[in-house]
Amino acid sequence: MKTDNMPAEHTSVLAEFAAGIALKKNAVVVDATIGCGGHSRVFAKSLSKDAVLLGLDIDQNSLTAAQNNLADLPCKVVLVRENFANLPEVLRQIGIEKVDLIFADLGFCSAQLTDPDKGLSFNEDMKLDMRLDDRLTVTAADIVNSRDEKGLADLIYNFGQERASRKIAHSIVFARDRKKIDTTAELVNIICRALKCNPNSRKSRIHPATKTFQALRIAVNSELENLETLLSSAPEMLAKGGKIVIISFHSLEDRIVKNDFRQKKTSGIYEIATKKPVIASFDEIRQNPRARSAKLRMAIKK
Ligand SMILES: C[S@@+](CC[C@H](N)C(=O)[O-])C[C@H]1O[C@@H](n2cnc3c(N)ncnc32)[C@H](O)[C@@H]1O
Repeated sequence: MKTDNMPAEHTSVLAEFAAGIALKKNAVVVDATIGCGGHSRVFAKSLSKDAVLLGLDIDQNSLTAAQNNLADLPCKVVLVRENFANLPEVLRQIGIEKVDLIFADLGFCSAQLTDPDKGLSFNEDMKLDMRLDDRLTVTAADIVNSRDEKGLADLIYNFGQERASRKIAHSIVFARDRKKIDTTAELVNIICRALKCNPNSRKSRIHPATKTFQALRIAVNSELENLETLLSSAPEMLAKGGKIVIISFHSLEDRIVKNDFRQKKTSGIYEIATKKPVIASFDEIRQNPRARSAKLRMAIKK
């Protein structure tokens, strides 16, 4: 489903499910990854002028897009450039004690993938960077040019689940001893040399650099730590009956969410509302291939 008033590039995933999440008219809603504001527009349809929508993002470009796309909403909209790991502090600063929904649609937007300043794409040649938040200081280029071979192999294996991690790490170290690795295309060529494949004539739908790029992006942006921090502070922020909804795009994130919800169910904190993760329909995947790997889980604070 394409949400209205959105830039053509980004289509919000599982928006139909998001539209069905029951909210009070005067709810306090946190969109922890506001992006272009697509999901927030969906939530806002059930909100009155007494409701508050707090949107966070670490990327100023996303916040600017959200500001334009959400200008006509009836509820109060507060947008903050902050990491969702720091959500409790943001709520304290703006004087909100409890919230009715914490929603996070993890990862990156389509516009970020094609933004040459972000350096995320293996399909286009860009400066190798991968910081979603340009206030961070360590880029993907810093990591591939400085980490020792074992450290690189472990990172690519642990965060990319790449079985050929050792070959790729070896190929990176061999290449960088001759020339510093500066661009995404250089890294793609190094990976393809290690895997003995041609990026332009591949048999699989999955690009050979996918897993290594995922690993570097996770490391640069501390994605798993941020998610764990958000999940561990969520119960103190949620009102009774408040919902936490997380959309993840790879199994490492989904496992963290699944385990967190299960542990909190066992300790009597949450009721799990999605016994199995919600996934996109065949039609949605046809219209938006990115939805293929999306998994949504929802829990309710008791
Ligand atoms: C998939 S997009 C969200 C799209 C949005 N749901 C929509 O429909 O337009 C993810 C957004 O989360 C932001 N983001 C990623 N990690 C974040 C974090 N730790 N804290 C805050 N924002 C984050 C990214 O910059 C990006 O704008």
